[in-house]
Amino acid sequence: MIGVFDSGIGGLSILRALRAELPDENFIYIADSGHAPYGERDDAHVMVRARALTAHLVGQGIDALVVACNTATAAAIHRLRADYPQLPIIGVEPALKPAVALSRTGRIGVMATRSTLNSVKFQQLLASLEGQAKFVLRACDGLAAAIEKSVANTAGGAAEIAASCALHTGAMGRFGNGPGDIDTLVLGCTHYPFATEVLRDLLGRQLRLVDTGEPVARQTRARLPARPAGRLSQAPLTLLSTGHPEVLQAAARRWIAPGITAQALDIPSALLPGH
Ligand code: DGL
Repeated sequence: MIGVFDSGIGGLSILRALRAELPDENFIYIADSGHAPYGERDDAHVMVRARALTAHLVGQGIDALVVACNTATAAAIHRLRADYPQLPIIGVEPALKPAVALSRTGRIGVMATRSTLNSVKFQQLLASLEGQAKFVLRACDGLAAAIEKSVANTAGGAAEIAASCALHTGAMGRFGNGPGDIDTLVLGCTHYPFATEVLRDLLGRQLRLVDTGEPVARQTRARLPARPAGRLSQAPLTLLSTGHPEVLQAAARRWIAPGITAQALDIPSALLPGH
């Protein structure tokens, strides 16, 4: 069984790739919507939540953990690995290196949460690519929340995603294929792939969009022992939300499988190793 968590529905973009790569695997997914968003909160909050969710998943007997959230990976993965040295723990980070390989103009946009962009981990990644491209960074405050809202069918949700994307990409400069244009856009938050169509409508079909689902899924497979045949489970996917399960359920029905259901689950922050 593989545990996966995010602050909300964004990690479903990673789960979708994981299920395609590992179709026989049991997954248990937690949307920590009752304690979201992570990207505009302080690191201490994200650390406490990441540790509590991981403790819960470890208690369920997971064989591996995928932190399907860039913000939580940046703030807490080092601590989770220290807490559970035997557990394979795979994180996600903005795909800057693949973007360098794709870009022709050498100008790359990076959309991520404020916390991710401010993190030491991200700054180190950026420094490691110095001189290889020009990165235009944008902290997309409000965009993950707008994506959550649109799934909840809140009136105006879709318009809010479009407005948020227009605001943030408008501040990044010109997109296109000419000299000095941004031709490649890194989606550095697992919620943002769900705004792909909006971004394409806004910025043009030729834009190269880079997300992390497939590479993370391949990396997860590589970290697992070879799977014996006939391991197919009766209940391959459990979806849990610390907020409103109907939002997770609606998103999963849209992006993972029709007819799927989600349950509510309270995970107190005090559920830490040693408590
Ligand atoms: N999906 C998360 C990420 O990848 C963050 C969304 C939030 O701000 O909670 O960074």
